[in-house]
Amino acid sequence: MTLQLALVGCGGMGLRHIRGFIEMAKKFDTFRMAAVCDLHEEAANHIAGEIETALGYRPKVYTDFNRMLNEERPLDAVEITTDTRMHHTFGLAALRVGFHVMTEKPMAITLKTSRAMRDVAVASGLTLAVAENFRRDPMNRLTKALIDNGAIGTPKFVVKLSVGGGTTLMHNTGWRALKSRAGSHILENGIHDCDLLLYFLGDVDSISAQTGILTEVRRRAGIAGQLSQFYQHRVEDEFTGDEEIKVDTEDSALAVVRFESGVIGQVTLTSASLGYSADVNSVHGTTGTLLLPQSRSGRGPKILREGSDTPIEGDELLELVPDFQLDDMTAKLWDDRRRIASYEMSFPEIDAKLIAIEYQDFGEAILSKREPEVGAEAGMKALAFAYGLLESGQLRKPVRLADVVDGTVSGYQQEIDDELEDVGGDQDR
Ligand SMILES: NC(=O)c1ccc[n+]([C@@H]2O[C@H](COP(=O)([O-])OP(=O)(O)OC[C@H]3O[C@@H](n4cnc5c(N)ncnc54)[C@H](O)[C@@H]3O)[C@@H](O)[C@H]2O)c1
Repeated sequence: MTLQLALVGCGGMGLRHIRGFIEMAKKFDTFRMAAVCDLHEEAANHIAGEIETALGYRPKVYTDFNRMLNEERPLDAVEITTDTRMHHTFGLAALRVGFHVMTEKPMAITLKTSRAMRDVAVASGLTLAVAENFRRDPMNRLTKALIDNGAIGTPKFVVKLSVGGGTTLMHNTGWRALKSRAGSHILENGIHDCDLLLYFLGDVDSISAQTGILTEVRRRAGIAGQLSQFYQHRVEDEFTGDEEIKVDTEDSALAVVRFESGVIGQVTLTSASLGYSADVNSVHGTTGTLLLPQSRSGRGPKILREGSDTPIEGDELLELVPDFQLDDMTAKLWDDRRRIASYEMSFPEIDAKLIAIEYQDFGEAILSKREPEVGAEAGMKALAFAYGLLESGQLRKPVRLADVVDGTVSGYQQEIDDELEDVGGDQDR
């Protein structure tokens, strides 16, 4: 059965999803893209054109989400790649009329809005998936297998240090400066790290953080780098013409984290470092240190052991995980290879394949009525980890992850929730 899908949000990530959709459609016939929607018709048309060129049919274009929801038939599922503020609004609306939903990360703008989505999905038996791409990288699959197989003994300590950024706005998008639309820079960048740490090391017990805003005004200074190609068609909204935007959300956090397993670690994230970048990703165990791979680079992890300057890397790593196999859908996208310790591919190719896996997992979850790999619970834990840093920073005391998930601790998010009229209510905004 081919499921009919509609996408809302045709900016940078919308285009990347379309490239992933086309990649998925080369190997599987799980979905047909029936419709695409954006406030800006030209952005939606651009994306519809990409589908038409690659797959030979043109999805219907809408500029009003509610109209798409009410009129587009047949329809089975909706995916959401708008800015973060709208994830729950559109997610709740789609779930309430009986459609399955996949939303980009972060699952929603707050835990309260995430719980509202989860509750409707559970009550109606519909699939709710979060499009978290990093963990699906075959190198992260290998990393998890190494940790689970005891390749560094028992993990005890983890370091996640991500220092970079500057004074420009990520992807030149004004909404990322605003707490009400993005939550925080910590969510935008850091939620991938939070999800990966949870994936590798299990649940987090508690977080103690200091947070701050280092860059109070950011510039819209065009877009460069490997992601720029995805944002050329995008139309800026309320910040059109603005060169400088006041930032009202934290861009820096320094945290000490305790996992339920007893692993302790440091998570330091800033997107406001001027002229200097550093990235350290290591897990330290009782028999060695694991250097985590850079997601979406094709480069694999490395293991270091006491007394040796030579890391264990490449195919040697596979000897430490004799049972490691990529799952069927990943292997199909990686030329039927099931045991790899690195791969060579351009960033756009890797990106499209990881998003293709998200689609396929979502589709298989709907059709076989199983949980998607990253469902509501996993999506909320990653969100609570990222918000845990911000909540602790504001409270100036440690917070428990479970309390952030269930809303016992929510002071930082309160301001956002207070502005939303649609948490658990109707979808009009
Ligand atoms: N997984 C990843 O690696 C990754 C990378 C980048 C962005 N993201 C996530 O994807 C989402 C989108 O980010 P982006 O960089 O594409 O932003 P963007 O601003 O480029 O795109 C958002 C699009 O949504 C549209 N939109 C907003 N409100 C709408 C509404 N009410 N109706 C219809 N369309 C509406 C906008 O017009 C815009 O085209 C964010 O939640 C972000 O966190 C994920």
